[in-house]
Amino acid sequence: MYYKDFITELPAYKPAKLIRQPSAGLVKLSSNENPLGPSPLALAAMQDALAGVHRYPDSGAWGLKQKLAEHYGLEREMVTCSNGSDELVFLLCLAFLREGDEVVMAEGTFISYLLRTLEMGGQAVQVPLRNYTHDLEAMAAAITPRTRLLFLCNPNNPTGTTNTAAEVAQLLKQVPEEVLIVADEAYIEFVEHTAEYPDLLSELRRGRPNLILLRTFAKIYGLAGLRLGYAFGPVELITYLERSRPTFNVNTLAQTAGIAALDDTAHLERSREYSRRSRIWLSQELEALGLEVVPGDTNFLAVKVRDDVALAAELLEKGFMIMSLTGWGLPGLIRISFGMEDEHTRFIEALSSILKPLSCR
Ligand SMILES: Cc1ncc(COP(=O)(O)O)c(C=O)c1O
Repeated sequence: MYYKDFITELPAYKPAKLIRQPSAGLVKLSSNENPLGPSPLALAAMQDALAGVHRYPDSGAWGLKQKLAEHYGLEREMVTCSNGSDELVFLLCLAFLREGDEVVMAEGTFISYLLRTLEMGGQAVQVPLRNYTHDLEAMAAAITPRTRLLFLCNPNNPTGTTNTAAEVAQLLKQVPEEVLIVADEAYIEFVEHTAEYPDLLSELRRGRPNLILLRTFAKIYGLAGLRLGYAFGPVELITYLERSRPTFNVNTLAQTAGIAALDDTAHLERSREYSRRSRIWLSQELEALGLEVVPGDTNFLAVKVRDDVALAAELLEKGFMIMSLTGWGLPGLIRISFGMEDEHTRFIEALSSILKPLSCR
């Protein structure tokens, strides 16, 4: 593996960023959040922890790492925690990229891979999706001696599609050991066809050296506003990342909530089931409006439309925020995150009133 000397020798301290969220009287179907809210167990645990926030967090997040390690059957040294999994994308680019290094990623995937690569002076090698899905053969073929990282978003945001276990196994065979495969599994808990989904945790347990898995509490666990993500990887890689992270990157409430949320299987199941029902209902309604829905496995749907930018603007006028995907390199697609049932009903009414006079945009 290729390491930067100044990071291996770093006694790092960096101040955390302040993140504010605007509030708006809109129905927000644009950020793939859990509309059911956080786990009640996590909320109760945070209430108990509130009086202690005059103290710094545990900078090693030891309790949370231990809990995650036990939950997933890994050694604790194979786990790191972060201020959202987005921070891990940043840290990976910070820790691995030198100017001009190449990063292979899909064209039409989570935008942070591209932004953070460019920020570090890296070269993004974007491989077009095939049938809205990562084209793993083409991605393997895009690897050169300058490639350092390969991002695989599975399931993919924003299309919701997955790559199968067989496809990913083939990719693992083709990627040289010097290239780090970053498998972003932010939506893994929503996947229903688990038998066909790659079991990369087992791959790590078997000792694969060039693989890291990114996970988050922001999606099914409903803790997006707390900022809590985590990664699993080989001890050597995780130790390296730990050196490059800000000292107190995971706050006290996030650590407390994460530990409690992992025990709340009822909330997890309820959220998964709600998502499944929403996917079925919304897909049927959208298809009834003459739209084509990309089959997916997540808490959002990608839908083909004629003009995604114009449609998103019209929906916004009617009080609904969705994501138009032209800016993600996928013109003609919108992404609708699941909200509450009454919001879905009103959304379909609004969409229908826009589409009917024009007969299917
Ligand atoms: C694929 C993917 N990875 C990572 C993230 C970032 O999640 P977090 O809120 O944990 O930073 C998102 C958020 O939308 C995502 O869709």
